[in-house]
Amino acid sequence: MTKAVIPAAGLGTRFLPATKAMPKEMLPVVDKPAIQYVVEEAVGAGLTDVLMVTGRNKNALENHFDRVAELEATLEAKGDTAKLERVHESTDLADMHYVRQGDPKGLGHAVLRAHMHVGDEPFAVLLGDDIIDARDVLLTRMLVEQERRDASIVALLEVEPEQIHLYGAAAVEATGDPDVVRVTGMVEKPAREDAPSNYAVIGRYVLKPEVFGVLERTPPGKGGEIQLTDALMAMAEDVEGTGGVFGVVFRGRRYDTGDKLDYIKAVVQLAADREDLGPELRDWLSGYVAGFTH
Ligand code: G1P
Repeated sequence: MTKAVIPAAGLGTRFLPATKAMPKEMLPVVDKPAIQYVVEEAVGAGLTDVLMVTGRNKNALENHFDRVAELEATLEAKGDTAKLERVHESTDLADMHYVRQGDPKGLGHAVLRAHMHVGDEPFAVLLGDDIIDARDVLLTRMLVEQERRDASIVALLEVEPEQIHLYGAAAVEATGDPDVVRVTGMVEKPAREDAPSNYAVIGRYVLKPEVFGVLERTPPGKGGEIQLTDALMAMAEDVEGTGGVFGVVFRGRRYDTGDKLDYIKAVVQLAADREDLGPELRDWLSGYVAGFTH
């Protein structure tokens, strides 16, 4: 498998006015745009063909993964190889492709826009709001399970019951493997009392191409949008036709950049872990925090 699809057509209204003229995917997490972490994760798992599903005002995304001749020439003339390397990192990362979503009809609709590019092979979907720590394994494991089980795979994270309404929730059954569950049902953003479990779908999927046909037949669901969760629910139930759905349970570090408070936490955590910034930041943070009365 070589293809990854990254839906990036969202308007990012939670970050206005920062996202008025700039895609939310370009918000810096320390010194890299959030989207670069996600592309790096795909490439790290061997998925070097990346299709981004974009929309209006998303030109900065294409520019970020392209060459920037003037800047490169200036850095070269200065002999600043360290910065030049940083510039090249995103250019040389992956074989990037772009398609526009047009109407913002939901995540399922965005994934459907990838059909022509993906064709008839399994592929991964990575949502830009979630950053998985590069030191923890998730996508690679999902690719292994996809091949082994010839099914579609979602990433699951156990969340607090009061958080489940923010996610797709999965009904699950144990398999012989403690890290893998069989998904028997899915609900998009259920109320706490309606949630089948506290297993939340985080933004990583490895899907069989049968999902495209299912999505074409999926009517608008929650929020009037075509939901990937609804298509997966159909696939979880119709095991014969589509191979079923399994969940890989993730217990590693995940950062949510889709919400303001979580975004701030992500920046602090990732910076505190860095060799260049970490020691000073941690030092300053402990003093700063000690200043709070409660
Ligand atoms: C989407 C999916 C949801 C999933 C979530 C993970 O929701 O619809 O099922 O749990 O991503 O981040 P969104 O956060 O885009 O509203």
